[in-house]
Amino acid sequence: MDKERIRTYAWEFPVRLTHWLNVVSILTLSITGFYIGQPFIHAVKSNQYIMGWMRFIHFVAAYVFTMSVAFRIYWMFVGNRYARIGVFIPHTSRQWRDLWGAVKFYLFLSKKPPYAVGHTAFAGLVYFFIFLIYLFQIFSGFALYSLSHTGDLWNTLGWMKGVMHLQTLRLYHHLAMYILMVFVIGHVYLSWYLDLKERNGLISSIFSGYKFVTGKEWE
Ligand code: HEM
Ligand code: HEM
Repeated sequence: MDKERIRTYAWEFPVRLTHWLNVVSILTLSITGFYIGQPFIHAVKSNQYIMGWMRFIHFVAAYVFTMSVAFRIYWMFVGNRYARIGVFIPHTSRQWRDLWGAVKFYLFLSKKPPYAVGHTAFAGLVYFFIFLIYLFQIFSGFALYSLSHTGDLWNTLGWMKGVMHLQTLRLYHHLAMYILMVFVIGHVYLSWYLDLKERNGLISSIFSGYKFVTGKEWE
């Protein structure tokens, strides 16, 4: 039988809010971005202006996404211990041990799932790379966007124009979308799987903030 569970507050409101704002904006950016790269609906009348709308929606979602990511990064410095920057970068011997334990679990070499109140060391490291991709999407996106603007602000925001050829940047901006898609499939699968395996309410926790832990998480 299960041990008694302790209801623990893991994800603060800003963590949950930015998670879901990112989900909605990434979904919007992916559909409209895919259309920008490969217009799959053809206009029959010139006043339909489909590409114009797709780009407009892409840019509105881009601002929401940028603000949400910026706020989450700020929260990495002021949030609770499960939200802090340290959970994304393994730097303690315990984190390295947990990381190795999780890798063994995912490779079917161990039957012990990676218990943690916050992100496991493995999930934290994966999210670190996801945040790097978020930043790349933002800076490469603003570099592309700055082409249709003038002024110092846009030159600063569009600094990535100076790093690589624009079409290369555009290609990478496109390819990063596929990396995010692959991540999301694995992420939702693993969240669901760990929820069933650990019975800690993981999926509902990203809505409510609360997880139900047994104490193994602190061992
Ligand atoms: C997860 C986030 C994002 C995804 C998945 C995404 C996806 C895409 C894709 C697939 C394209 C088409 C590239 C091509 O031509 O093949 C595109 C174009 C573009 N994106 Fe994004 N994007 C994201 C974030 C952003 C952000 C934050 C901005 C900032 C303004 C932005 C600005 C642009 C611009 C300016 C274009 C080119 C539009 C044009 O040429 O008409 N994107 N995006
Ligand atoms: C575009 C889709 C998604 C992306 C890019 C994404 C990305 C992320 C990221 C970066 C985190 C870390 C949050 C932080 O510390 O700020 C996270 C956590 C989490 N996400 Fe998502 N997510 C997506 C969709 C979903 C969906 C649909 C679900 C549920 C069915 C979900 C469930 C969770 C859970 C339970 C956590 C916290 C637990 C953990 O440490 O793994 N996510 N997600």
